[in-house]
Amino acid sequence: MAGKKMKFGTKAIHAGLEPDPATGAVMTPIYQTSTYHQESPGNHKGYEYSRSSNPTRSALEKNLASLENGNYGVCFGSGVAAIDAILKLLKSGDEVLSTNDLYGGSYRIFTKIFAQFGIKFNFVDMSCMEDVEKHVTSATKLLWVETPTNPMMSIIDIKAASVIARKHELILAVDNTFASPYLQNPLDLGADIVMHSVTKYIGGHSDLVMGALITNNNELAEKLYFIQKVQVLYVVPKIVFWP
Ligand SMILES: Cc1ncc(COP(=O)(O)O)c(C=O)c1O
Repeated sequence: MAGKKMKFGTKAIHAGLEPDPATGAVMTPIYQTSTYHQESPGNHKGYEYSRSSNPTRSALEKNLASLENGNYGVCFGSGVAAIDAILKLLKSGDEVLSTNDLYGGSYRIFTKIFAQFGIKFNFVDMSCMEDVEKHVTSATKLLWVETPTNPMMSIIDIKAASVIARKHELILAVDNTFASPYLQNPLDLGADIVMHSVTKYIGGHSDLVMGALITNNNELAEKLYFIQKVQVLYVVPKIVFWP
């Protein structure tokens, strides 16, 4: 993975960026195109259609993956769209164990959108992980941790959550928006997926809305890229750099 050995500041500036193959530009251009030329069907330079992937978004995805010590970054048009993609890993009858203190928009998408498709959400106090384990059932598939929480700034022990996740074969997803990758790297603590509202600290200047998922798990990455391809919708309008 590009940039794994670099320090944080160097990664923020350089990770994922290669000189533009067409011109040699050292800063990745914004490719304002929906479609890419193919010499013959399927014979192209790695890009076909900008929803599936495009060089600008790929550079951002590699950069954010590097900041979270992950192998794969998957970007979306908002933090909520990134959460939506994680929930699409599930199916009707599956259960989610979530912290009971979390961003209102996450609660809204859980209870008002995905609950109506037969996914069950249990909201529990995650200050004591031993208590959390009592709520795991045979249908539980996802452990949803937000730490620090918005708005209460409660802290959840990600390492302890990962022990439960491994034991019960759950996906551990951590909303790391409020800590930012500068202060906390959930993959290093055993999480399977890190989620960011890039809109917040990573964006840094209140001038964009964006979401990101980062993982080291090949199988999850493949599924998330597929969900991104069928769902989202976004040519990143600018590359964000750590302020
Ligand atoms: C902790 C947290 N997660 C997710 C989101 C949703 O992100 P977005 O507003 O980019 O859709 C927010 C937004 O405030 C948030 O604070």
